[in-house]
Amino acid sequence: MGFFGDLFKSAEPTKVTVKGSGETFVVPVGMNLMKAALNAKVAWPHSCKVGSCGSCRTTIVSGDGYYPSSPCDPTTLIKPEEAEKGMVIACQWYPKGGDMEVEVAIGTEGDKRGMI
Ligand code: FES
Repeated sequence: MGFFGDLFKSAEPTKVTVKGSGETFVVPVGMNLMKAALNAKVAWPHSCKVGSCGSCRTTIVSGDGYYPSSPCDPTTLIKPEEAEKGMVIACQWYPKGGDMEVEVAIGTEGDKRGMI
């Protein structure tokens, strides 16, 4: 998102609820979604943690966020039809604050479709 993503970045922590499991955790300002989940001991699917494997893919049911400027584009790991449904690469995606609900395969290894 570059300039506009940075312009509207979060000014308050985000409270996240995982659809289905009901787990909740808070994402501090300036932290990506997956790092906050792992810090809260939520069994988020992951491997590389740097946006290249795709195993942390998560669907944002409600709430908003952004990808900071980066030379790599993590959205290449998401199919267009998945992006339309709100799927993001959680290890590279930053919530903007407020309440958020997400859908993710807690406790699994996820689907590694990229390079690790
Ligand atoms: S953990 Fe590999 S892309 Fe997020």
